[in-house]
Amino acid sequence: MKLTAILDLVAADMAGVNTHIRENMRSEVGLIEQMGGYIIAGGGKRLRPVVAILAAKAAGYTEDRHQVAASIIEIIHTATLLHDDVVDASDLRRGQETANSIWGNESAVLVGDFLFSRAFEMAIAMNDVRVMQILASTINRITEGEVMQLLYCNEPDTTEQQYMTVIECKTAKLFEAAAEIGAVLAQKDSQMEASLAAYGTHLGTAFQVADDLLDYRADSETLGKNVGDDLAEGKPTLPIIYAMQHGSATQVALLRQVIENGDREKLAQVVEIIEDTKALDYAQTVMLRESEKAMATLVAVPDSEYKAALLGLIEFSVARLY
Ligand code: IPE
Ligand code: IPE
Ligand code: MG
Ligand code: MG
Repeated sequence: MKLTAILDLVAADMAGVNTHIRENMRSEVGLIEQMGGYIIAGGGKRLRPVVAILAAKAAGYTEDRHQVAASIIEIIHTATLLHDDVVDASDLRRGQETANSIWGNESAVLVGDFLFSRAFEMAIAMNDVRVMQILASTINRITEGEVMQLLYCNEPDTTEQQYMTVIECKTAKLFEAAAEIGAVLAQKDSQMEASLAAYGTHLGTAFQVADDLLDYRADSETLGKNVGDDLAEGKPTLPIIYAMQHGSATQVALLRQVIENGDREKLAQVVEIIEDTKALDYAQTVMLRESEKAMATLVAVPDSEYKAALLGLIEFSVARLY
């Protein structure tokens, strides 16, 4: 199923999600509303709430609590982006200036904290212990992922395994939570929950590998973020890790130096090495392996248009240019 058809299928639910998000940006403190409104206006793909809605429906859920759950997931995602852009010193997100570059790091960190705690107020109001458990451990894991990544910054000896662990925590975990909560709400068997959770893990992993590929080959305007940010930060992502294992001695020396120092000026040279060593092809292979795993997990889910849409999201996530 194509993205437009998927979005049509969830349009009514996503309108509900949007209302919940807007209502929960309210605060007596002007700066919070201003920053919240700014980020929401930036849009974003809203993929995680779409996953939550589709997973709930694919599992046979017929009530409407999945809309609040999906909005909580998106609010958590937004909080992680506010913090991530501070940590990564990024100045472009969703095609506009980042919150940290307009209002400063302090405000971005604090408003991120506001969003995390607001998400918890919303989760508690749902009064579902399983949902709360999933959300709490998810935020915990995301933070561990971001901290691990910080430790691997400027570290050229980072391994592919370490990279995979980071992305499973920082990105895949939230996709997993979105899909799992959908199943939990539907109150089906643990098999259904496990299958949908695993779908989220593999989809999220493929999604982040795609993001890391795009950091080297996308067009910044289409992407809505700067390309080369990972390199500027000295982040050893999959294309670099692979190129370091397969390059010539001169190429490896240059890559090590660029990771150690975080040098955007060397982007063109690095892209050349990445192409020469077929590192993008390799990252593509890893991404496809994850997307095939995501597809396989859905075998346990009964056929429906919602399941077809979950399959369509895998296609979109690996073929995306933004
Ligand atoms: C950005 O996620 C953060 C990553 C995990 C790569 P998205 O690409 O889903 O961001 P938006 O919400 O669409 O802006
Ligand atoms: C984003 O990772 C993961 C989280 C926000 C937790 P990235 O740093 O790769 O995402 P972008 O490229 O800034 O969106
Ligand atoms: Mg970032
Ligand atoms: Mg990135």
